[in-house]
Amino acid sequence: MDGIIPEQPRSKCLGADCENDAGSLQCPTCLKLDMHDSYFCSQECFKRNWNEHKTLHKKAQDKAQNATGFHNPFPKFPFTGSVRPVYPLSARRAVPKSIAHPDWAVTGIPRGEERLHRTRIEILDAKGQEAMRKVCRLAREVLDIAAAEIRPGVTTDYIDEVCHRACIERDSYPSPLNYNHFPKSLCTSPNEIVCHGIPDQRVLLDGDILNLDVSIYHGGYHADLNETYYVGDRALADPDSVRVIETTRECLDEAIKLVKPGTPIRDFGAVIEKHARSRGCRVVPTWGGHGINTEFHPPPWIPHYAKNKAVGVCRPGMAFTIEPILTLGKTREVEWPDKWTNATADGKRTAQFEHTLLVTETGVEVLTARKEDSPGGPVPMPPAPTNG
Ligand code: MF3
Ligand code: CO
Repeated sequence: MDGIIPEQPRSKCLGADCENDAGSLQCPTCLKLDMHDSYFCSQECFKRNWNEHKTLHKKAQDKAQNATGFHNPFPKFPFTGSVRPVYPLSARRAVPKSIAHPDWAVTGIPRGEERLHRTRIEILDAKGQEAMRKVCRLAREVLDIAAAEIRPGVTTDYIDEVCHRACIERDSYPSPLNYNHFPKSLCTSPNEIVCHGIPDQRVLLDGDILNLDVSIYHGGYHADLNETYYVGDRALADPDSVRVIETTRECLDEAIKLVKPGTPIRDFGAVIEKHARSRGCRVVPTWGGHGINTEFHPPPWIPHYAKNKAVGVCRPGMAFTIEPILTLGKTREVEWPDKWTNATADGKRTAQFEHTLLVTETGVEVLTARKEDSPGGPVPMPPAPTNG
C-alpha cells in the first residue's frame, strides 16, 4: 500500500465505520485506476479500511478488462514466465467443403493415426514422393507468408488468420485444425512456450521470440515444418535468445547431414544433444520427430536426445520430420490448463526448428527447405561470454 495523496476535498470519508467528512486524501491505487472520488478523512482511517477498500480495486480492474473484452482465462494458474493466454479465442475458422479434410476435421479424433502399427515405417513410391514434394512446397509458402507478418503489435490470432487463408488459397487443409480438438490452424509458441501454443489475442512484443509451426494436408499427404523468429530489434540484441535460436537451427542442420540409407534413427539424438550442450543449451526430451505421409504422425518416433533406443533405419522413400527443441535452462515442462500449451518450468526461453525430409537413394531431400526470399534465417552468434 502506497502513501496517501492530497487532492480536492469531497463530502464523506470512504471509511466504512467513519462518520467524518472527507479530507483531501485520495487512495493512490484508485487514482491509477481512474477512480477520482475515493477520499478519506485521514491516513489512519485509510489504513484501517484498507482490506475492505482494496476489493474495489479488483472490481474496477475486472470491469476495465470486461470493457476491452480480453482476459486471462486461468487467473489462478502459476505461470512460469511472462507469457499469458489472452482470450477470448477467435471463432473457429471454416475450411471450404471442396478442400479434402483429414479424418479429425469433423470428430476431432485422428482415427487413422491411432490404428497404425507402432513400428511399420511406410516407404513411399514415386507417386507418393511427388505428392510429398508438392505438399511440402506449399507448406513452405504458407510458413513464409505467415512469418512475413511477424512484428511487434500483431496478435498470434492474426498470424493464424493469415496462415489459414494461405492454406485455403492453396487448396490445403491446415492439419492442426481440430486435431485432437486443437482449436486453431497453426501453433504459435513465444518465449518460454516449448510447443503447441494456441494463437490468441496476445500482442507480440519487441524482444519476443516466436515459433510458428505449420502443418498442411494437400493431395492426401501432410507436410510439417517450423521455425523460430526474432520479434523486433530487441530480440536480435539479446545474446541468450540468439544463442538458443541459432543453436537449435544448427542442431537440425547437423542431424539432417546424417540422413541417408542405412543410418539408424537413433543416431540423430547424439549429434543434436552434443551440439546443444556445447552451447550451454539442453534438449527437451518430451517431443520428437515423426514419420509423415498420408498420416500426420505415423512411425517412426524420432528422439532428439543422446543414448535413445529408437528403432528403425533410414531407407529410400521414407519421409519423416526432425524437430529439436532446445532450452536455455532446465528441460522440465508444465502444461497450461488449456491442455495444449507447454511452458518451461523455469520460465527460460526455448526454440524449435523442423523440416520434413525424404530419404533418397544417396542421401536426403529437404522437402520444406527455405527459399532465397524466406523470412527469418540465420544471424551471427553473439561472441561467447568471456571471464573478466
Ligand atoms: N506440428 C506439430 C508437430 O510438429 C503438431 C501440432 S499438433 C497440434 O508435430 F494439434 F498441436 F497442432
Ligand atoms: Co512435426
